[in-house]
Amino acid sequence: MPAPNIDTIVSLAKRRGFVFPSSEVYGGLGSAWDYGPLGVELCNNVKQAWWRWLVYERDDVEGIDSSIILNRLVWKYSGHEATFNDWLIDCRKCKGRFRADKVVDNKCPSCGASDWTEARPFNTMLQTKLGAVADDDPTALAYLRPETAQGIFINFLNVQTAMRRKLPFGIAQVGKSFRNEVTPGNFILRTREFEQMEMEYFVSPTAEHAKLVDYWVEQYLEWFGSLGIDRENLYLYEVPKEELAHYSKRTVDIMYRYFPEREKPWEELMGIAWRTDFDLSIHSKNKVDEEGKRINPDSTEDLSYFDEPTKQRFYPHVIEPAAGVNRTVLAVLMDAYSEKTNDKGETRVILKLSPQLAPIKAAILPLAKNKPEIVGMAKAIKRSLQPVLRAVYDDTGGIGKLYARQDEIGTPFCITVDHQSLEDEAVTVRNRDTWEQERIKVSELAEHLQKRLKPYPVPPETI
Ligand code: GAP
Repeated sequence: MPAPNIDTIVSLAKRRGFVFPSSEVYGGLGSAWDYGPLGVELCNNVKQAWWRWLVYERDDVEGIDSSIILNRLVWKYSGHEATFNDWLIDCRKCKGRFRADKVVDNKCPSCGASDWTEARPFNTMLQTKLGAVADDDPTALAYLRPETAQGIFINFLNVQTAMRRKLPFGIAQVGKSFRNEVTPGNFILRTREFEQMEMEYFVSPTAEHAKLVDYWVEQYLEWFGSLGIDRENLYLYEVPKEELAHYSKRTVDIMYRYFPEREKPWEELMGIAWRTDFDLSIHSKNKVDEEGKRINPDSTEDLSYFDEPTKQRFYPHVIEPAAGVNRTVLAVLMDAYSEKTNDKGETRVILKLSPQLAPIKAAILPLAKNKPEIVGMAKAIKRSLQPVLRAVYDDTGGIGKLYARQDEIGTPFCITVDHQSLEDEAVTVRNRDTWEQERIKVSELAEHLQKRLKPYPVPPETI
């Protein structure tokens, strides 16, 4: 049973230190969120799982970390300056301003009227000024990147030559992106500052591009499965031609059931696009149009690729899986949410996070906090586990309360040190999902836990 709605996660996230509303002491800042002690761990674990899966486990992907602020010309030639727009309309009656594509049945969401101004474009790139310049100096204008992808394209040749890569290969990047969203909202689903995990997979112009889109869709469905997201809560949306971005010939969106309570429950989790050779050719100095005119007179490099076997030079095509860290985190939290009733009829929240994502892997709990030998042994176990996994020590409540707290934040194992432990050098290991307990020798504890902290698809019962 996933979370019944996003609000359930908002309240759990604040209560337990995953996500806080940003700038709260000044009344907040619309749609900005701060990740707390557990949230930052969860985000890091998602990003690390993604990086491991693509960059370490595959042999055909390299990683980079490019600047957030790039030369403004990048955004001119990528098409973002001209086309990265939301179309806005104003309600003539209440003066409310809305995104034209989000208005349902032509009715104003504020006052219900249907009297609109003409739609006009609003560029959603966030602007800044570089250096100590006058406010109106146009040469100082720069943008905070709206996607991590362009930092990859402009480094294609650097990576390819430095790492001696041959096609096909990919370049992955994870980092912050910024968009001046007109209607942000729904918690961390749509914000103006967010994080992306993007990979540009470079292939020959004669490759089977549409099939490669399917290939990457399948890969990501499996990856989301390994994060514990149920396939039933994912849905594939083939983006119709008229909705495709200017660079795309085919895009499939993987949607997640973020709104189970609504008639339309799906929202985009990520997209997989065939970006053709648009980006590499548009940033290249040698590419010419039909009339032989250079399409980019500002570029000093040519991002074409020489294919040794065919002795041909061309601009590689790109298949781009583009995912959001924050939307993945939200989907993971919603899917992991569950409730269980104990013997006393009390309902407990259990966050059944995939063990690889759990912010804390093991909580060490002394059964008697006024017994120095037990406390000392529990703290020593915590220290001994720390080099191999994230462990915490907690003695701030009765054992039932401590278990409940760890269940709610998704800690896969609670380890209890009791009087018997002092005699037999063993502890009780409690499983988050089954509440079953087993007695394990302290000397075997680290290995025992590590074996059970493997990612799904190991079913939750067997962690
Ligand atoms: N390079 C292609 C690209 O950026 P996109 O569909 O605009 O494509 C990719 O963005 C992913 O980034 C989305 O599927 C979503 O997960 C995330 N994303 C985009 N805008 C976002 C926002 N305002 N807030 C949170 N995540 C966002």
